[in-house]
Amino acid sequence: MVAARLTIDPNFSVGPIDRRLFGAFVEHLGRCVYDGLYEPGHVSADPEGFREDVIELVKEMGVSTIRYPGGNFVSGFRWEDSVGPRGTRPRRLDLAWHSTETNEVGLHEFSSWLNKVGSELMLAVNLGTRGVQAALDLLEYSNIPSGTALSDLRVTNGKRDAFGVKMWCLGNEMDGPWQLGHLSADDYGKVASQTAKAMRQLDPSLELVVCGSSSAHMPTFGEWERVVLTHTYEDVDYISCHAYYEEKNGDLASFLASAVDMDRFIESVVATADHVKAVSGSGKTINISFDEWNVWYIDRYQQVDRIEGIGNWPVAPRLLEDAYSVADAVVFGSLLISLLKHADRVTSASLAQLVNVIAPIMTEPGGPAWRQTTFFPFALTSRLATGSTLEVTLTSDVHETVLYGTVNTVDAVATHDGETGRTAVFLVNRSQTEEARVTIDLFALGDVTLLDAQTLADEYVYAKNTLAEKDRVGLRLNESVCLGDGVISLTLPPVSWTALSLA
Ligand code: AHR
Repeated sequence: MVAARLTIDPNFSVGPIDRRLFGAFVEHLGRCVYDGLYEPGHVSADPEGFREDVIELVKEMGVSTIRYPGGNFVSGFRWEDSVGPRGTRPRRLDLAWHSTETNEVGLHEFSSWLNKVGSELMLAVNLGTRGVQAALDLLEYSNIPSGTALSDLRVTNGKRDAFGVKMWCLGNEMDGPWQLGHLSADDYGKVASQTAKAMRQLDPSLELVVCGSSSAHMPTFGEWERVVLTHTYEDVDYISCHAYYEEKNGDLASFLASAVDMDRFIESVVATADHVKAVSGSGKTINISFDEWNVWYIDRYQQVDRIEGIGNWPVAPRLLEDAYSVADAVVFGSLLISLLKHADRVTSASLAQLVNVIAPIMTEPGGPAWRQTTFFPFALTSRLATGSTLEVTLTSDVHETVLYGTVNTVDAVATHDGETGRTAVFLVNRSQTEEARVTIDLFALGDVTLLDAQTLADEYVYAKNTLAEKDRVGLRLNESVCLGDGVISLTLPPVSWTALSLA
């Protein structure tokens, strides 16, 4: 049996939890938009063609901000194609995903869908094949109330009030050689600084995200952040991080410890941003927008999904439709723990992505929508993690991994909401064979009532929810929890994620 001990004290806070930590990402990629959240003719489609079953699931997840429309897609996107009368919108090649973009869903339709799900729009501008002028045009179209060519065009296109978009990404993964218009750190830093300055001249209240590395394992990682921030420090508010994890070569132990890599990634980017702050003598602090994170079996995309052929540009092909296992969801839950632990500096994050494409929600055309295993940790964390992250003291048994060396077998984070008096604790057991006995010292919280204890685990760690078996995996009440004398003790099954809720 693995042993771990936690001490929680509401007087020691890491920082407030920004709701934007529970954001997601919708890209025009595969069946995320078309045959995903949008399917006119589906039995659950509303008059605008949006699937109400998907809307209900997105609401249940509690998604705050949604990054749109890409991703790699945005680096070849002409935003003007996606507005105006639908009948005249052009069909375009999407070079990023070797598909055809019909532009049937664009800015207006997506914004309307966001109102239905209750999420905020976060827009990305194309700094791959376009630049400052196109970014300014889109901003004028979106945020100027009326009285100029582009704001009046928006009104003519049916939207009287401005979209009022606050958060903007200055391109996407510009460090990646696969990106259309890929740039060196120096060149991107200059373009990003010019674009940010111009956009702020139009609307000083914007919150701008500059591209960090597309992974901590890029050869330019670290130096990219330093150079880009040296150019843009005073112009932006956030630097982005992207990270995807997968089980490789049957090494489940390393995969289960992926959050160790995410912790190090965040801490390295914070250190680099603070280094640029020190060198430039700036009084402001740059935070992280972790605007792509998830489990993603990238090799499957490269080897199975990848589309090729000069005459082959399908509309909404099945791409990146990973089916997630219990082990994937446990890793996913531990990535959420990592984001929460760094709530003082990670103040925005986007789960990549939302529907069908490496997604917590799957749909079948003309058929049902269902929750993948990863849906559960997201929805529960989004609901319970309010207020501030607490500085917890954690001691745990450890084990060895090939990729990350010695790691804690149990990892955990706690949150506390001073307004509601609610406390939540999120835990993972990374052992593949042993249960973990965890003791949590809550003495500093005073009188505590246990509201709920939910665990995600399964005898078969590769169990999944699929079209054939949509409810195979779900949360289960953890009946091992005992509360007495300011101490909670509970047992975590091997390869499991757990959320406790206390009042
Ligand atoms: O989320 C899938 C892709 O991953 C995005 O388009 C890109 O930004 C990243 O490489």
